[in-house]
Amino acid sequence: MPEIAKVAVLISGRGSNMAALLYAAKAENCPFEVVLVASNDPQAPGLKLAEAEGIDTFAHPNKGLSRNEHDQIMHEVIVAAGADYVALAGYMRILSNEFVRQWQDHMLNIHPSLLPKYKGLDTYQRALDAGDSHAGCSVHLVTPELDDGPVLAQTEVAILPGDTADILADRVLIAEHQLYAATLAKYVTREADPDWILEQVRTRALALEETHERPSFGTPGWRVGSEKTGKYFAYFSRRHFGETGTSVFVKTSGLDEQSALLDADPDLYFTPKFYGKSGWIAIRLDTGHTDWDHVGDWLEKSWRMVAPKRLTKMMDIAAEF
Ligand code: GRF
Repeated sequence: MPEIAKVAVLISGRGSNMAALLYAAKAENCPFEVVLVASNDPQAPGLKLAEAEGIDTFAHPNKGLSRNEHDQIMHEVIVAAGADYVALAGYMRILSNEFVRQWQDHMLNIHPSLLPKYKGLDTYQRALDAGDSHAGCSVHLVTPELDDGPVLAQTEVAILPGDTADILADRVLIAEHQLYAATLAKYVTREADPDWILEQVRTRALALEETHERPSFGTPGWRVGSEKTGKYFAYFSRRHFGETGTSVFVKTSGLDEQSALLDADPDLYFTPKFYGKSGWIAIRLDTGHTDWDHVGDWLEKSWRMVAPKRLTKMMDIAAEF
């Protein structure tokens, strides 16, 4: 059973999205649990509900405190609760850059519009005024700009004749409750999703000079050089060639380095079938705690082994400055 992600939910008001997360978490196999509900408003109705459900709650008014001071108080409570993720659910505070940085890639928000349309408030009326056929909601990662981070998922909600902002808001809210729980569940388990893992490898491999992707025996591989004479420096493996789990194969300097790696960290490395004999090593990518910078370094090292000298020379010169 994979570890269950611990989530702190921040609210300022009624907390219906918080409730949706909390009840979703009660389902068997839900990959997250709510460990804390915190608010900047001690009167927020959602706090009572969370309390009644046996969830730890915390409230601290922001009045009289700087943004940094208040965020720091929240941060400390969230950390003390053991949370790995923060879910903003109607938290009516602009966050300090420091807080956003501390929770980077671990903080989500739900917004009642189809972002990038209608950031900020009054989203329903703005959709109606614009004559849109659909309103909707978005779950996104939080970055310092308001309602601006990468969108993880959206649900479209049809606008009906006669809709007012309030009527539309009620219908969008139903969609919000479904979307937030489903997206959070997917997000906290992303490191076990082979498609997500592949995308991480692909982005890093293709960021290297003169690389392209070409499948090899049905699995994605990355080459450096021209389409015609390029050489492979990495292969992606998803239970391929009889291997278990998801991994990337990269080139080592030879069998000595390969066996040193296997000795040093047998949980991370293994010898890939077929490719192992020529000094390739497989790096496991589904341990749930992949160090992606390390994988990026490996891809570059492997790329260097086969890249034309003119490319590696250029990089060495650039590195000296
Ligand atoms: C929701 O519409 C959400 O999209 C927005 O604030 C509202 C919060 O409602 N960010 P609730 O407190 O979750 O009921």
